[in-house]
Amino acid sequence: MTVNGQVRRAEVPAETTLLSVLREAWGLTGSKLGCDVGDCGACTVLVDDLSVNACLLLAVQVDGREVLTIEGMGGFDYLHPIQAAFERLSSIQCGFCAPGIVISAKALIDKNPHPTEQEIREALAGNLCRCTGYTKIIEGIAEACRAPVGTDGSA
Ligand code: FES
Ligand code: FES
Repeated sequence: MTVNGQVRRAEVPAETTLLSVLREAWGLTGSKLGCDVGDCGACTVLVDDLSVNACLLLAVQVDGREVLTIEGMGGFDYLHPIQAAFERLSSIQCGFCAPGIVISAKALIDKNPHPTEQEIREALAGNLCRCTGYTKIIEGIAEACRAPVGTDGSA
């Protein structure tokens, strides 16, 4: 499969999940293992631009497809506008939910660059924040939609 623009290969048992391959075979530990049953969204990644729970997909189901994880969204020298907005607004507390939420927000904004608050809430319906800071997270996503596309989001 292609992960964050890079072709990756692994030989794993058939029952291995996409999340396990990302984290354990390739060291991409940004996607988190929370519930492991599709409830929390901490493992959310994009597969062919669709947000999915990586804990529910088998790696073999993703063979030959394109995957985007949080590691492909930004880094120390470039923050995606969603990440930059979260930083500016202090949207994140412990951060465990953040990778999945950023990916879900990207999936939303890619399709709908100017979502309503309700649409943001609906897009995050599969992402739980155990710190319960949803208000700042939703504000951060709305803020990112106001930022010029292609910038690092710096004020
Ligand atoms: S770890 Fe995948 S949805 Fe919770
Ligand atoms: S910021 Fe802690 S789980 Fe969301």
